[in-house]
Amino acid sequence: MAVLVTGGAGFIGSHTTVELLNSGREVVIIDDFSNSSPKTLDAIRKITGKDFKFYKMNYLDRKMLEKIFEENKIDAVMNFAGYKAVGESTQKPIEYYINNVSGALILLDTMRKYDVKKFVFSSSATVYGDPQVIPITEDCKTGGTTNPYGTTKLYIEQILKDIYASDKTWDIAILRYFNPVGAHESGLIGEEPKGRPNNLMPYIVRVAAGILDELSVFGNDYNTPDGTGVRDYIHVVDLAKGHIKALEKLDNEQTGLYIYNLGTGIGYSVLDMIKSFERATGKHVKYKIVERRPGDIAMCYADPKKAKEELGWTAEKSIHDMCKDSWNYIEKQIIL
Ligand code: UFG
Repeated sequence: MAVLVTGGAGFIGSHTTVELLNSGREVVIIDDFSNSSPKTLDAIRKITGKDFKFYKMNYLDRKMLEKIFEENKIDAVMNFAGYKAVGESTQKPIEYYINNVSGALILLDTMRKYDVKKFVFSSSATVYGDPQVIPITEDCKTGGTTNPYGTTKLYIEQILKDIYASDKTWDIAILRYFNPVGAHESGLIGEEPKGRPNNLMPYIVRVAAGILDELSVFGNDYNTPDGTGVRDYIHVVDLAKGHIKALEKLDNEQTGLYIYNLGTGIGYSVLDMIKSFERATGKHVKYKIVERRPGDIAMCYADPKKAKEELGWTAEKSIHDMCKDSWNYIEKQIIL
C-alpha cells in the first residue's frame, strides 16, 4: 500500500516524503512543478536511498488522478499541492480558490470513488485569524482570515468537517502549521520561493548571501517585547515528522476527524530571528525598520500540547538548527 503525496516536490511535501520513505512507506508523488523543481525528486532519492513512483500532473486533472488510483494501491493521501503565497493570493483569488479548494474537492471525490478515506491535510495557523488567546489551542475560534490563501485553508477545513459528518468512515487529520523554516540537514532539499520571497527566513538568508540588499522589518510598534512581530517558527523536518505521527494515528485508531497544531510553543520576534541567524551562521543581516505590513498580526504561537499527548510528537529542533539548516541549503545552492 502506498501514500499518495500531492505536491511532493515542494518544500513541505519533499521533507515529508523523506520521512515517509524513511519510515518504510511506499510513496506515489504527483507534482506539476508550478512551485517546485524536478531536481528535488533526485535529491529525495539521494537522501533516502529509496525510490518512489512519480507522475507530473496537476491534481485538478481528474482523469489522470483516477489513472493513478487504478495503477497503484493507495491507502492514504497527503495533500501539499496548495498555493501558499499570501500576497499573490490577494492578486489572484480565482486561481487560489480553484487550485486549493477545487483541487482538494476533486482529490476527495476521487478518493471516495476508490474508497480511500485516509486524508492528511496541510492547514495553517492562519485559520485562527488574529488570535484572541495565546498560546493558541486547537479549540480557539477560527475565522477572520485576512487573505484568500488563508480563506482557502478555512474553507477546506469546513469541507472536511462536513464530509466527516456525512460519512464516519472517513479518517482525517487536519494539521495546522505555524511558521515552517529550515531545511533537511543534507542541504539537498529546502525552500525555494519563486521571485522575491515574502516570508522572513527566505528573505534573511538571501540578504546574508548578498542576493538581496537589506531586510525590511515590518513594524516595531507592535505590543510585543521588542515591538516586532512574534511567530512560532518550526523546523520543516520536525513538521514532516508530525505528518508521520498523524498518519500512524489514522492507521491505529478508530476513524475520526482530528485537528492538531504543529508548532514549538515558543514565540520569536523578527529581531530575535535576525540575532539567532547571525549567531548560528556568523553572517551579518542588514535590516531597516519600515511600516507594518497590511494584514500582519502582532503575535502568534501554538500550544502544542494536544499533538504531544495524542500523537506523541514534539518539535525537537532549536532555532539555532532552523537558522543553520536554512543557511546550509542556500549556501549549497549558490555553490552548486
Ligand atoms: N517579516 C518582516 N520582513 C519580511 C518578511 C516578514 O519583518 O520581509 C515579519 C512579518 O511582519 C512577521 C514575521 O516576519 O512578523 C513572519 O512573517 P512571514 O511572512 O514569514 O510569516 P507570516 O507569519 O506572516 O505567515 C506565515 C505563512 C502563512 C501562514 C501564516 C500562519 O507565510 O502561509 O504564517 O500563521 F498562513
